[in-house]
Amino acid sequence: MVTSSSVQVRILPASKGDLDEVVALDQLACPVPWTRTMFEKDWSENPFGHCLIAREVREQDRPSFLVGYICFWVVFEEIRIMNLAVHPSVRRQGIGRQLVTACLAYGKAQGATKACLEVRASNVGAQALYQQLGFREYGRRVAYYTSPQEDAILMLREESLSSSRETSEVSIEQSARSVCQPYNQRKEGPDAHG
Ligand SMILES: CC(C)(COP(=O)(O)OP(=O)(O)OC[C@H]1O[C@@H](n2cnc3c(N)ncnc32)[C@H](O)[C@@H]1OP(=O)(O)O)[C@@H](O)C(=O)NCCC(=O)NCCS
Repeated sequence: MVTSSSVQVRILPASKGDLDEVVALDQLACPVPWTRTMFEKDWSENPFGHCLIAREVREQDRPSFLVGYICFWVVFEEIRIMNLAVHPSVRRQGIGRQLVTACLAYGKAQGATKACLEVRASNVGAQALYQQLGFREYGRRVAYYTSPQEDAILMLREESLSSSRETSEVSIEQSARSVCQPYNQRKEGPDAHG
């Protein structure tokens, strides 16, 4: 079980061994969860796809639970945030903010200068998080989501991505098992979604 007292986390690139926990958290947190296959393809077949996870910091011999993740694409100058969730038992402790900040830092290191996303119109908590990190609303897609049907709010963050101090405040630990290598360091071919 994940504890609900103040949680310290490490931010790491996801590895294949994290997949079960990411899928389980997505099912818990999202109204229309991604399938396991969608995660697998995004991690292994999409050259623009990346995923960072947040793991609880625990004593050495205790299991460290996965408490959050963020999936995003870095498409040249643009970061596209695709999926973000934090375990319900540890929300409002800054973990979502750390994950988005780490994602921005990761994209910035690859040359991205802006970031965009879609969020459900009713998801005021996530919108507040993004606004706190410099995103602004720039449009709406009517009836974009299903189950339930709902508009998408389009949010964008630019300029500040290259000058913000927040992007240097969260460090991403290195992992040899990462599925989240920069595109130019990957062995796979260049076929991408979209
Ligand atoms: C959205 C989500 C990722 C936020 O994660 P979190 O770790 O709880 O967020 P943080 O603690 O980092 O919050 C940072 C700030 O965002 C805002 N915020 C976050 N959740 C909020 C909520 N439910 N209501 C209002 N503001 C909220 C607050 O300004 C907060 O700062 P504060 O706690 O100092 O007031 C989490 O609620 C979640 O997993 N939701 C379900 C999945 C989801 O909606 N994903 C986003 C899809 S676009």
